[in-house]
Amino acid sequence: MKKVQVELAHRSYDILIGTGILERVPEFLAERGARRRLFLVSNTHVFRLYGEALLQRLLSAGFEATQILIPDGEKHKNLQTVENIYTYLIAQGADRCSSLVALGGGVTGDIGGFVAATFHRGIPYVQIPTTLLAQVDSSVGGKTGVNHSLGKNLIGAFYQPNLVCVDLDTLASLPPRDFQSGLYEVVKYGLIVDREFFDYFESNLEAIKQRVPEVMERVISRCCELKAEVTSADEREKDLRRILNFGHTFGHALEAAAKYENLLHGEAVGYGMIAATLLSREKGNIDQATADRIIDCIYRIGVLPRIDHFSHEAALQAMSRDKKRQGDCIHFVLLKGIGETEIRSDIHEETLIRIWDRITSER
Ligand SMILES: NC(=O)c1ccc[n+]([C@@H]2O[C@H](COP(=O)([O-])OP(=O)(O)OC[C@H]3O[C@@H](n4cnc5c(N)ncnc54)[C@H](O)[C@@H]3O)[C@@H](O)[C@H]2O)c1
Ligand SMILES: [Zn+2]
Repeated sequence: MKKVQVELAHRSYDILIGTGILERVPEFLAERGARRRLFLVSNTHVFRLYGEALLQRLLSAGFEATQILIPDGEKHKNLQTVENIYTYLIAQGADRCSSLVALGGGVTGDIGGFVAATFHRGIPYVQIPTTLLAQVDSSVGGKTGVNHSLGKNLIGAFYQPNLVCVDLDTLASLPPRDFQSGLYEVVKYGLIVDREFFDYFESNLEAIKQRVPEVMERVISRCCELKAEVTSADEREKDLRRILNFGHTFGHALEAAAKYENLLHGEAVGYGMIAATLLSREKGNIDQATADRIIDCIYRIGVLPRIDHFSHEAALQAMSRDKKRQGDCIHFVLLKGIGETEIRSDIHEETLIRIWDRITSER
């Protein structure tokens, strides 16, 4: 088992990563003096796979644990689901002495974290992420929240968990497409801050794709370390944390232009990183060999779904919405080399359109 510490003064917490972690959750909670009254938030699918057994273990260890089941899917990541959870908590007499445990992918983690942040102005919570994306990204860093009908992740709070437990065994049941989608976020860490990690990723890609536990332990813990470092230094997403958005400016625009229908988030980020790499090459930040090497590695992760009916207008519109949110200029994260970034806000629309055309015509 590996342990990564997220350093945030009195709110520091551990991320535990390894196999067999789910069996030991009651022990880890007891060690940290967790409250006896626990509410386990999960969706019906993940609860059947891992939640039932976890609940039994918690009960046997003397915790007063109850499950709260939410429907599966991003379309339920909204205030209605949050309201339903509050209602249940209140009906069950939950108070400031209760804790919440979020078991599932990023959707469950974001909802559970937001409920924990706001119920009684904040109760302790534990993240048990079960998708690769949640293990390397959404469960670390303390961003919680839900979607509004007018946009994704518009309602939320920064709220840190007390513990994150990553059980590598849960990856075994993850559908191939969700696993692959998480790998784009993984390679992102190497590209933005850690050249050695990129080299490791590139040379061990086959073992990674086969989800070999020892390799995955190393990969996931490195991602958590890197995200923890970046978020401890910049908890509220000012400048440094921006680099985590590498590939995301294009990615979000693609997701919006595809109306979230046939692209998973990680896949959109895969395309977005290719675009950002081409842009870095155009600006003379990296040489052709480096650009080819990065793009080749991204394509080797797996087949990206076709982006049919792509509309420049829709993508540019999505970018201009992002722009308004960021204060009237879009910050593009470009590479200066593998493991090094540069933030630019002087990228013109024509350049973006040209790059999009290159990507869509190459597929
Ligand atoms: N808070 C953050 O910093 C942050 C960062 C990145 C993404 N996110 C959010 O994360 C969400 C996406 O997360 P996701 O990709 O994990 O999606 P998800 O939570 O919807 O999970 C994907 C699917 O996998 C299923 N699943 C989960 N674990 C499984 C397992 N072990 N075996 C089999 N099936 C399993 C889920 O039930 C779901 O159907 C988005 O809402 C995004 O906004 C948040
Ligand atoms: Zn992302």
